[in-house]
Amino acid sequence: MARDGAVYACQSCGAVQTKWAGQCPACSAWNSLVEELQSRPPGALAPSKASRTRGLVFEGLEDETPAPPRIATGVEEFDRVCGGGVVPGSAILLGGDPGVGKSTLLLQVAAQAALRGARCAYISGEEAVEQVRARAQRMGLADAPVKLAAETSLRDIVDGLKREGFDLVVIDSIQTLWSDAHEAGPGSVTQVRAATGELVRLAKKRGVAIVLVGHVTKEGTIAGPRVIEHMVDAVLAFEGERGYPFRILRGAKNRFGATDEIGVFEMGDAGLAEVKNPSALFLNTSGERAAGAAVFAGIEGSRPVLVEFQALVAPSAYGTPRRAVVGWDNGRLAMVLAVLEARCGLSLGDRDVYLNVAGGLRITEPAADLAAAAALASSALDEALPQDCVVFGEISLSGEVRSVSRMDARLKEAAKLGFRRALGPADLDGGGAREVVGVSRLADAVRRIGEGGWN
Ligand code: TYD
Ligand code: MG
Repeated sequence: MARDGAVYACQSCGAVQTKWAGQCPACSAWNSLVEELQSRPPGALAPSKASRTRGLVFEGLEDETPAPPRIATGVEEFDRVCGGGVVPGSAILLGGDPGVGKSTLLLQVAAQAALRGARCAYISGEEAVEQVRARAQRMGLADAPVKLAAETSLRDIVDGLKREGFDLVVIDSIQTLWSDAHEAGPGSVTQVRAATGELVRLAKKRGVAIVLVGHVTKEGTIAGPRVIEHMVDAVLAFEGERGYPFRILRGAKNRFGATDEIGVFEMGDAGLAEVKNPSALFLNTSGERAAGAAVFAGIEGSRPVLVEFQALVAPSAYGTPRRAVVGWDNGRLAMVLAVLEARCGLSLGDRDVYLNVAGGLRITEPAADLAAAAALASSALDEALPQDCVVFGEISLSGEVRSVSRMDARLKEAAKLGFRRALGPADLDGGGAREVVGVSRLADAVRRIGEGGWN
C-alpha cells in the first residue's frame, strides 16, 4: 500500500507510478522503481502566485528575433555538432558511457574557449581539483584560465554561479549533484530532475551556457540522462567502441541546429585529437574496393551510418546451393536474388551466395536493398564498385529502384566520410560536388556495375 504522497519513479526511464512493481510498466526494466516522496500529489498545480506574474501575453510569428549569438569554443568538431558554437543561455546535455571521454572532451572545450577569452568554469563532482588540474597539464592546457571547482551541492553551485559571471560552465556530472530540498539520494530521478531544472533556469536567466555531463547506464541503477532530455536545449551523445581510440560526437536533439552532424575524435596520450578526415577510420578507403563490396549509406534510428555489404557468389559444389546471410534479412536476400535473376538476367540460382554486413551491425532498412544487390552483382560480374561510392535504394518486385527517406542526410554523412559518389534512386540529387548515378531500374544499376571503368 502506497503511503500518502509517496510515488515510485523508474530510475531507468523516469516514469512515475503510484504503486510499486517489480518491473517498470513503461520501459520493462526490472527492479528500477524506487520510492520517492512528493510534496504534492502528482498532477496538482502549485499554489497560484498571481501577484508575481504578468499574465499571458501573445506575440506574432512574424516578429523578428535575431539569430542567437554563439560562443566558438575552438574545438571545431564540438562546435559543429552544436550547430556552429554554443548558444549563451542554453543547456547542453552530453551523454555517454563511463570512461568514453566526456570529462576529457569538456575540459578541452572549456580550456580552449577560455583561451579565446570566454569566462569558463569546470565544476567536477567526480574528481578532486588536483586530478582535473593534473589531467589539464597532461593535455598541455595548464595555461588556460579555466576556474575549477570540486562540488556536489546544488545550492553551493547555484550560489557560486550567481556570484561570478561566466559564459560557459561545465557540470560533471549531473548524477553527482544533490539538493537538500529533496530526500532522495544523488543520482535518483528526483535529484537529477531537480538539479537540471534549477541549472537550466539559471542558464536562461543569466545567459550562461551550461554543459551537463550525464552517464548513460544500461542497468538503471542511476537515473539515465533520458529523464532530463526534454529539459535541455541540446542532447549530444559521445560514443566509442571498446578497444578503438575513435570517439564520435553526435547530436540527438538540438534546438539551435541540425542533428545530422557528427564530430570525430581520437583519444591519445594528450587527450582528444580532432579527426578532420575520418573516412579512413571506419571503412577501407585506400586502394580499390574488392569485387563484391558495396558501402551502404544507412540511417540507424535518427542517425546516418555507413556500413559495408560484402557478397560472395561462387559456383556450388552441391545440388542445392547455399544461401548464408549475416546482418541482413534472409527473406529480403531471397527477394533480391529473385529480382536479379528475373529482371536483370543475372543467373544465380545454381550458385552459392554469401552476404555479410561488416562490423557486426544488423541492417533492417529496406533502403539497403540496392546496396545488397550491388554487392551481389559486383561479385557475380567480378567488377568492383569505385571505392568512394555509397549505395542506397529500395527495390520492388518489378525491379524498380524506389526513392528512400533522408537521402540528403545519407549523402551528407557519406560526404563527411569522404565518399563523393552515390548510386541510388533516379531522383537522387547530387547537389553540386557529388557524382551521382541515379537509376530507376535495378537492371540499369547492374548494367552500370558490369561496365566497370569508373575513374
Ligand atoms: P574520461 O574523460 O575520464 O571519461 P568519462 O568522463 O566519460 O568517464 O576519460 C577516461 C578515459 O580516457 C580513461 O580510460 C583514460 C583515457 N584518457 C586517455 O587515453 N588520454 C588522456 O589524455 C585522457 C585525459 C584520458
Ligand atoms: Mg568523467
